[in-house]
Amino acid sequence: MTKLRAAVVQTEPVFGDVAANVAEALELVPAGCDLAVLPELFATGYQFRDSDELASLAESVPDGSTCSALRAAAANSGTTLVAGLAERDGDRLFNTAVLVRPDGTVDRYRKVHLFWDEKLIFTPGDLGFPVFAACGTTVGLMICFDWLFPEAAGTLARRGAKVICHPSNLVLPHCPDVMPLRALENRVYTLTANRVGCEHRGEAPLNFIGRSVAASPRGERLVECGTDRTEAAAADLELDLCDPYLTPRNHVVADRRPEFYD
Ligand code: ACM
Repeated sequence: MTKLRAAVVQTEPVFGDVAANVAEALELVPAGCDLAVLPELFATGYQFRDSDELASLAESVPDGSTCSALRAAAANSGTTLVAGLAERDGDRLFNTAVLVRPDGTVDRYRKVHLFWDEKLIFTPGDLGFPVFAACGTTVGLMICFDWLFPEAAGTLARRGAKVICHPSNLVLPHCPDVMPLRALENRVYTLTANRVGCEHRGEAPLNFIGRSVAASPRGERLVECGTDRTEAAAADLELDLCDPYLTPRNHVVADRRPEFYD
């Protein structure tokens, strides 16, 4: 049985304090993991006042300071890191997740389903839902609000992802209960890394709910973090459990009946 040691890392960034946020997040990554997932926008914080502020904090990928720090940490530790950051590409600004391997190579996903005020400042993702070879398996990336759309995790799984990494900044309560279902219906592992704390930089305060969660292809909650503290939680993923046969006669992809779906 092929095993992968994976962690979800739950942080509390201080808005705009990039160097400290990155250093504190990387300190939380447990030693000895093959894969660790950090939250959405973990370096900057979440609640940008406007697109100028976002542009001033966004970075290029893979050469920006946050991505460079992730590359150094991955190389030193041997851990593949997935993390959310604000990406600048020319005059476009994306809510991006990067996958950083110990060999220094970097891949990215740009958030497809933007949430609330993100729609005012970010460009919607233009790369679809890519799946990457990493840490001896196939890894799919999605970000936070993508959880609401079953097509996101479904597309990643049908493209071969066995582990879905899900950097998040959750404010609604539902996602930690939904992700084990996404894992079960697609027979994959899901790793949701959320943040805690509050930001009040716009009209309404945002309270981030924590509850970072790793779920198995059987829909089990392998680990779940608390609601109000920074922490990391690790689990062993048994990749052979990513079997699309739910029973000997039920294949979660082949049994679909798309002719009956809208
Ligand atoms: C979210 O998508 N950050 C709620």
